[in-house]
Amino acid sequence: MTGLFITLEGGDGAGKSTQAALLAGWLEQQGIEVVRTREPGGTPLGAALRELLLHGSDVSPRAEAMLYAADRAQHVAEVVRPALARGAAVVQDRYIDSSLAYQGAGRPLEAEEIRGLSEWASEGLWPVLTVLLDVSPELAAERRAAAGDRADRLEREAAEFHRRVRDGFLALAAAEPHRFLVLDAVLPVEELHRAIVARVEPLLAG
Ligand code: TYD
Repeated sequence: MTGLFITLEGGDGAGKSTQAALLAGWLEQQGIEVVRTREPGGTPLGAALRELLLHGSDVSPRAEAMLYAADRAQHVAEVVRPALARGAAVVQDRYIDSSLAYQGAGRPLEAEEIRGLSEWASEGLWPVLTVLLDVSPELAAERRAAAGDRADRLEREAAEFHRRVRDGFLALAAAEPHRFLVLDAVLPVEELHRAIVARVEPLLAG
């Protein structure tokens, strides 16, 4: 596998999509083919799963974990691995770390079981870099309200759930400092972009 796999993670409203778009633009300027994608919903099957997960009725924690894993299995097989195999950079909103934080830390499930499920779904594919845009649940909620977003099924969860998710992300980053770049999502957009580029640039040489 020769391509570059980069994921962006963080709570809802952390600004992942903005940074993903800026990074994709910068990589294209370097003459690199970029595939911008996301989970859940990066394939036609995934779009249907996304609808069920975010706008459907109640989903039990285990069913939720398996639906995210199903989305991931299809997405990795259909989009991510083919792109990496032809040497493209994949810039992706959310991946396994979201399952570890939301399902593994947020829900009453075993994080190690969620890891096993995701590794099975992805056949062990991990990104070379994961940018964690760390945001407090309070600020994230403010941003969503300011943007006029209607909360989806996960966003409607209690503040305590979002605190566990945030702590979950930070613990993952602390355990794997070489894969993670943790940035404070309150920083200005341009400053965040510069910090991400500074971390990505050396990866292009290697
Ligand atoms: P996303 O589309 O990133 O929503 P937003 O743009 O509001 O951040 O993600 C949808 C939701 O799915 C988000 O609340 C996080 C959740 N999620 C999980 O719980 N587990 C997962 O494995 C993934 C990929 C997402």
